[in-house]
Amino acid sequence: MTATVSGEALAARLAFGPPDRELLRQILSTQQPDEIETIRRAAEQTLLENHGDAVRLRGLIEFSNRCSSDCRYCGIRRSNRQLDRYTLTLGEIVEAASWCAQRGYGSIVLQAGERRDAKFTRLVSAAVRAIKAATESPTLPRGVGITLCVGEQSADTYAEWFAAGAHRYLLRMETSSPELFAALHPPSQTWSSRLQCLKSLKTLGYRVGTGVMIGLPGQSLDDLVDDLIFFRDIGADMIGMGPYIAHEHAVLPGGAAIPDGATRLQLALRMIAAARLLLPRINIAATTALQTLAPDGREQGLRFGANVIMPQATPNRVRRLYTLYDGKPCLDDSAKQYAACLETRISSVGRRIISNDWGDPAKH
Ligand code: 5AD
Repeated sequence: MTATVSGEALAARLAFGPPDRELLRQILSTQQPDEIETIRRAAEQTLLENHGDAVRLRGLIEFSNRCSSDCRYCGIRRSNRQLDRYTLTLGEIVEAASWCAQRGYGSIVLQAGERRDAKFTRLVSAAVRAIKAATESPTLPRGVGITLCVGEQSADTYAEWFAAGAHRYLLRMETSSPELFAALHPPSQTWSSRLQCLKSLKTLGYRVGTGVMIGLPGQSLDDLVDDLIFFRDIGADMIGMGPYIAHEHAVLPGGAAIPDGATRLQLALRMIAAARLLLPRINIAATTALQTLAPDGREQGLRFGANVIMPQATPNRVRRLYTLYDGKPCLDDSAKQYAACLETRISSVGRRIISNDWGDPAKH
């Protein structure tokens, strides 16, 4: 059968070493089921060799939906007036983080809309310090690992938060294409400023995560290949990427302007596999957006080479208000239900949760 022959030829090329541009393009574009399975298996094999079967958890605390940015794709953009805005108190943030630590999540992500005012930057510093103090224990002598995901900030602010005890930062590039970036954002938000932030985070010593949205209006396969090369060249320690999903009160369209849901999910899974093959040692997240397009989207992400999951740990009271895109799953589950369902989901794909560990990859 020719299909099997093409699968075998592809397997041989994938085993040869990190994929070049041409192979990355083939990984993203093939429509042959046997080739897709060959790609998935190669990515899973690379994952198991480099990380074993461990899945690392980061409890996700979305502590504020106030935002001074106006990203055209995002549901919490500043100019969306049809949204109640909230910011958790310091006590609520620490409580959510302590809950994560008690459940054995060795790491958390503090995520919020982007703000640069002193009230906000001080809240983040205070939260990092208080969480460290509250979660120190014999199993976690330095408290939970803290990742911040609060957008573009000055180098001084990044330095202040690093000194407070945050050691990882997640800042998605959104796209490595300057033209596409410009189409996604207002003129005040620039591609070069985003890049500069990633560089200063690296220089300061953060473990840096970045990522892109997949299936954006106007995005080509070559743009996605460029994104993968960008991840390598910037020295990313972690990648969090997922399909683009339109939001009813955002400006950027969905519908006919983007590939259908099944195509975007497939493309996102292929991007995970390609990133794993290109960068075997880094952490790669199976993101919530995958689950929006298919109930088992995140498990599929794990099967295609991801090794990080960010369980929802935002208090129920405000969870509905942090809707970056339509159809976000698990909005009603209590955090406890969510954690139980997660364990079952992870073991259903033959993987196991690593508890009480920061879960950083070795320096590369
Ligand atoms: N679809 C998918 N992902 C989105 N994000 C924001 N809006 C959307 C959307 N409509 C992602 C961005 C951002 C992260 C916090 O959420 O990539 O960096």
